[in-house]
Amino acid sequence: MLDPESLRTAYVEIAGGEPEGLWFGPGRVNLIGEHTDYNDGFVLPFALEKKAVVAAGRRSDDLLVMYSLELQERVEVPLAGLEPGTGGWSGYLAGVVWALQVSGHTVGPATLVLTSDVPLGAGLSSSAAIECAVVAAMCDLYDLDIEPMDRAKIARLAENSYVGAPTGLLDQAASTLCEEDFGLFLDCRSLEAVHVPLPMAEQGFEMLVLDTKTPHSHVDGEYGARRRSCEEAAAILGIPALRDVTDLDDALSRLDDEVLRKRVRHVVSENSRTLEAYEVAREGRLAELAPLLDASHASMRDDYEITVDTVDLAVDTARAAGALGARMTGGGFGGCIIALCRTGAGDSIAGRIADAFNEAGHGRPEWFTATPAEGAGRLS
Ligand code: GLA
Repeated sequence: MLDPESLRTAYVEIAGGEPEGLWFGPGRVNLIGEHTDYNDGFVLPFALEKKAVVAAGRRSDDLLVMYSLELQERVEVPLAGLEPGTGGWSGYLAGVVWALQVSGHTVGPATLVLTSDVPLGAGLSSSAAIECAVVAAMCDLYDLDIEPMDRAKIARLAENSYVGAPTGLLDQAASTLCEEDFGLFLDCRSLEAVHVPLPMAEQGFEMLVLDTKTPHSHVDGEYGARRRSCEEAAAILGIPALRDVTDLDDALSRLDDEVLRKRVRHVVSENSRTLEAYEVAREGRLAELAPLLDASHASMRDDYEITVDTVDLAVDTARAAGALGARMTGGGFGGCIIALCRTGAGDSIAGRIADAFNEAGHGRPEWFTATPAEGAGRLS
């Protein structure tokens, strides 16, 4: 549980005075549209109640002072000495200040005290949550008038170029732009964003989010390898990005490599599923999301090859226990699944997954039910 009072107290100890405010960035689940963002495709995430919060204030020296409440660790760097590739956890905060600087914005010294209840490495965008909270804080502290989509791009620049994870825009766009009770349909090429209502409770559904506790990371090789395969396939096909495949069979017939064929099949089919999910959600037929979630999972498992045993077991058990549809969410190789359930059923479905994990010798998963929450901003 987040504790804003401990955050304030820690801030006062570090900075010697009250923070100028508290800013937050939420985690997210991606309803559908996985590994499509860096292929100029479509995504449909929603923000979570779980969030990163920073207590922040300006300073009169030349330092960026960062403190993590969870780790009880303090890092300070001179503003002029921010170095991409450094900082561990503090890189997610310092990276944003660096990204603002290199994007031509004038920012000054600050104290940033961080807390977060977004599980780490669970595919719920714990890093984007921090980045987007810090963008919001720095914009208010230093009067920067930056549009939401540009804020998301700055947060992504921090992730890509300072932290060194070659991700797309999905997480930062979700954490910045989402609205309560809505999903965010985003065209990652035109950057057109549409808020789509997701009245799950009204229609008798809830979304179970279950963390398999198999941790993952995007800084390591597999994510980058998938991305390079997509770029390679697009180059062979002579198109700017896999978004531009118009005839899947023709594209597949022009690729000799079986692995590339599978990667392309996932991206192209996932883009169509995401477009379909957008239509279905726009028309308020939420039950029809279920088969799309199932098909997305099968595609990530068989074609994109980014699921792992625990994730597949969780998805299969969720369905067997009565979920209408389920899929892994996020970058993959572990992390969370989402399952569309009838209202009130999520907990017992999760219990069945916990039993299955126990029988298979896996650790205990953790879970909650999620409703779409609002994007980054000022908390107080
Ligand atoms: C991670 C990345 C996103 C996106 C997803 C997969 O969350 O940060 O940009 O590529 O994986 O959909």
